[in-house]
Amino acid sequence: MEKQAQKKEMDNKKVVLTGMQPTGKLHLGSLLGALDNWCRMLDSYDCLFFLADQHAITMPHVPAELRRNAMDCVAQYIACGLDPKKCKIFLQSQIIGHAELMWVLSCLTPIGQLERMTQFKDKSKKVGQFVCSGLLFYPILMAADILLYNADLVPVGEDQKQHLEITRDIAQKFNGTYSDMFVLPEPYIGQTGARIMSLQNPTIKMSKSDKNQNGVVYITDTNEIIRKKITGAITDSGNDIAFDEKNKPGISNLLNIFAAIEGISIEEAVRQFSSLTSYVPFKQAVADAVIGKISPMREKYGEIVQDKDYMVEVLRAGREEAQRRANKMISKVYRKVGFVME
Ligand code: TRP
Repeated sequence: MEKQAQKKEMDNKKVVLTGMQPTGKLHLGSLLGALDNWCRMLDSYDCLFFLADQHAITMPHVPAELRRNAMDCVAQYIACGLDPKKCKIFLQSQIIGHAELMWVLSCLTPIGQLERMTQFKDKSKKVGQFVCSGLLFYPILMAADILLYNADLVPVGEDQKQHLEITRDIAQKFNGTYSDMFVLPEPYIGQTGARIMSLQNPTIKMSKSDKNQNGVVYITDTNEIIRKKITGAITDSGNDIAFDEKNKPGISNLLNIFAAIEGISIEEAVRQFSSLTSYVPFKQAVADAVIGKISPMREKYGEIVQDKDYMVEVLRAGREEAQRRANKMISKVYRKVGFVME
């Protein structure tokens, strides 16, 4: 059995690994900017997807919410197209190895580099007085997530690129200090890489923490709410449908959404609406497209969250495979650093 599994791994495709913090509900931005791209990789790569619940406790949180959000996010991953038959889905905290590898890697990472990380600086400003060491170590845990499975490609957004760079630095440091062990992972920026902005303020990214929730379309929104949010999107006072992110950020955002959903270029999307003389029918068309995309996902999500046995089985299979790989890696690492293994 072990042999078979190893063989499978060897003639396998490149390893793709990525994850998200389980902050609750997925929205149109995470769907078009991340998940859709992950789904496109399912057939060509050895795909591992996880929820970074250990990262989530670096910021103040409510335990019961974290637990519920983690399960909801798993259901939403699947509903959005991450077919558990084609990939492994697991929870970071359920695998013994992420925190262990982080410790080893922390002994190779200079504090100064951690203190200079953009996300650390931003987040420590946000939390104010109490800045925990976990926030400083966040990038090392992320490096451990990636290196534990020797991932070749890591699909991430622009904001996470710096974390990929430090991961490569840490991997190189380990390889140089001990001996070659880790693949240097590459960030993978998807085909569309659509950057979806808030519908109420198209100069900021669509995000769950947006104060104006009318700017955010969730996977769980009803068709009526989706239509209300899209048709109520802030746009300029003109009436021509043109792509101009600087002067017409609202219209450009809607064009981005439409093009990403339809799988067409921005130019093609503009062409489709070129004869319109008002924003109204354009917004209705975008709303139709978003509803067409999200409503089957919302329904599937509704079914999956009800089916506890199915969820448990998906996570069991993901955990088993991830743990098998993690164990192998930790043994190798421990041997290299000089821990007694017998
Ligand atoms: N830091 C990532 C984010 O906030 C989540 C994450 C944690 C991650 N570990 C990872 C992403 C490993 C890719 C690979 O989006």
